[in-house]
Amino acid sequence: MLGADDFRAFYNSRIGTLPYRYPVSRHEFEWGCIHKPFDEQPYTNLGTEQFLCAVEGEEILGIAHVSVAEEEAGRIGQIRYLDFVPGHRRIGQELLVSAEARLTDVETIRAFCPDYLYRFFFNCYGLPDKWLHVTSILGLNGYSVSRREILLVQESEVAPSQLDPPEKVGRIEWETTESRGRTSGLNLRVYDHADKVIGVCYTRAGSHFQLNKAAERVCFVAWLNVRDALRGLGWGRFIFLTALNEIKQRGFTTVLISTNEKNHRAQAFYANYGFSMVETLSEFSKGLSAPRTSV
Ligand SMILES: CC(C)(COP(=O)(O)OP(=O)(O)OC[C@H]1O[C@@H](n2cnc3c(N)ncnc32)[C@H](O)[C@@H]1OP(=O)(O)O)[C@@H](O)C(=O)NCCC(=O)NCCS
Repeated sequence: MLGADDFRAFYNSRIGTLPYRYPVSRHEFEWGCIHKPFDEQPYTNLGTEQFLCAVEGEEILGIAHVSVAEEEAGRIGQIRYLDFVPGHRRIGQELLVSAEARLTDVETIRAFCPDYLYRFFFNCYGLPDKWLHVTSILGLNGYSVSRREILLVQESEVAPSQLDPPEKVGRIEWETTESRGRTSGLNLRVYDHADKVIGVCYTRAGSHFQLNKAAERVCFVAWLNVRDALRGLGWGRFIFLTALNEIKQRGFTTVLISTNEKNHRAQAFYANYGFSMVETLSEFSKGLSAPRTSV
């Protein structure tokens, strides 16, 4: 009988087709499926997890993972994962139909919702457009994109030069962020003389999300923000380059950032520092006119 470990083996065999995701061990797979990306807490609002495998002879050709989330808005069906070997569209179709059949008493189904992604798949916020075989099967079955992010990367070992702030700062605070791996990220906060935050840059080491050695030199910028009234004055540049300088000094060579596809200001900002686009990541959703009821 097939189990979660066969599912993991298939995941590992396929994940090399996506940048910055790496194979996982059995323990990492089991842990990462049920833990949130940013803190160490398990998901508490997900119902029974169901894994589906499509098999031909001895070979797994596709997998799906479904659950139902109990949210304030009600029960939302979740296709947490779906993949199949490209060229086997009918297998993908059957998997999706079987996945949906398990999501009873729901009015909406979401696929690759960022709130329930596997921690080790995180990189972040949805289904990568590189997996055209999966995005197309969702589209063919009535799903549409409900949110799209753009993943950006900068690959360099060189630390940018230090920069003077636009005005004198009150104080600068550094904090090391937790990681399950061997490298840690850091948070930077810059305060004015009244001790009010001017802006922040929060980062996580890639090994916070994935234990593979290859993730150790990857740093993920989780949040960059400048106080509303102070935007456009050079504070973002100062804060980001100060953080980037420290990140590079600590040996990170790859910096990843995701930003909403409509956040053109942030994209223009990151383009100034040599970031380029890796992929887009989408959450899909579909409303059901007549929810299936459980029997
Ligand atoms: C993105 C953000 C951090 C930039 O900080 P900032 O202090 O406003 O930016 P700076 O003054 O240091 O840098 C200016 C650069 O940012 C971009 N930018 C900032 N404001 C802009 C505007 N109104 N129009 C166009 N580009 C703008 C430009 O690239 C500009 O450089 P350029 O004119 O040489 O091209 C800030 O706008 C912010 O906090 N936005 C809201 C949160 C957010 O979107 N964070 C990023 C999430 S991934």
